[in-house]
Amino acid sequence: MSGASQVDAAFDWKRRANAPAPGTPLGPLEAIPDAGAKEYVFGQGLSAFRMFVIRRGVDVFAYLNLCPHYSLPLNHRPDEFLSRDRGRIMCRRHVALFRIEDGCCVEGACEGRYLDRIPVRVEAGGLVLG
Ligand code: FES
Repeated sequence: MSGASQVDAAFDWKRRANAPAPGTPLGPLEAIPDAGAKEYVFGQGLSAFRMFVIRRGVDVFAYLNLCPHYSLPLNHRPDEFLSRDRGRIMCRRHVALFRIEDGCCVEGACEGRYLDRIPVRVEAGGLVLG
């Protein structure tokens, strides 16, 4: 995927059903264990906006919870987004692996494709969208 396509993907999340507005607080950073992940859901049912955040110390990486393989959520269990060694994001459906830093699939059915990045920042110990 080109750099331009990644930028386009970053804008797409705002147009999805139930997408929260930029500036929406997600809660305290401490709610995510270090080297762990947490899902945030806005809305209900099939149209819910689902995203997850990976935390590494004070760094955070957030993506839409939608695998580029079959456009399905990556997890089966709550907050279960990482490989066993916690070094990659893993889709539980067909075990595709993605880099945490940029969401690129590096192994599996959708190799070379990207998760949709969601901009998230840390402000005064809290996570803020956009
Ligand atoms: S749906 Fe994620 S790897 Fe197939």
